[in-house]
Amino acid sequence: MKKIVILISSRGSNMEALLNAQLPCHIAAVISNKADAAGLTIARKLGFKTVVVPHSDYATRDLFDAALAIEIERHAPDLVVLAGFMRILSDGFVRQFQGRMVNIHPSLLPAFPGMHTHRRALEEGVRIHGCTVHFVTPSLDSGPIISQMAVPVYGDDSEDALSMRVLEQEHIAYPQAVRWFVEGRLTITQDGHVLVDREQRNPVALQVPPIDEMGSPSTGRVGVNIKMSVS
Ligand code: GRF
Repeated sequence: MKKIVILISSRGSNMEALLNAQLPCHIAAVISNKADAAGLTIARKLGFKTVVVPHSDYATRDLFDAALAIEIERHAPDLVVLAGFMRILSDGFVRQFQGRMVNIHPSLLPAFPGMHTHRRALEEGVRIHGCTVHFVTPSLDSGPIISQMAVPVYGDDSEDALSMRVLEQEHIAYPQAVRWFVEGRLTITQDGHVLVDREQRNPVALQVPPIDEMGSPSTGRVGVNIKMSVS
């Protein structure tokens, strides 16, 4: 059975979705760079091993990354899952885990890398937003895309409302993508694209929840149901 470790920094709702997903793998540890991360309490309550590697104990980013890498490798994971791990990782660290480290980002990459994605989406007036699960490469919020979940953006959305709509999809997308990895269903092609089950047109890798007549999205279903009107 494959082994994974999950890295968090705070709330840990994606971690919780992963821990509850009954994935066919061994979750060896949840590691946090902050001792007070709320997610650690959740993981302990659910009976998972937790470890803290406080970044504040290390004088430089490289020293912290080295200590973190040692802690991760102790668990010999097949996959490192970044779930709200709020640290910029050094190139050396990323290269050490390249091809076996994934992240979830709250936007449809390559749109809105970095912070405050929902606020920026609202400022730009985009009509569609979402989240992306991707393999991690040295450039910030980039790397081969595994799956994307799209949600509508409404004219009267607040940052909180949009963020919750995306988060709900994150909790579906991340366990699903990790499941594909541990089941050996992902391939990275020579041009750096990810195939699920080696299929070029696999509908599972892009999901758009349907919008009902009242304009509120329902969740968990595959298919594009957004009504279009062209004038
Ligand atoms: C999520 O929005 C995730 O996409 C981003 O950080 C946030 C973490 O939230 N990388 P949580 O800690 O999983 O609740």
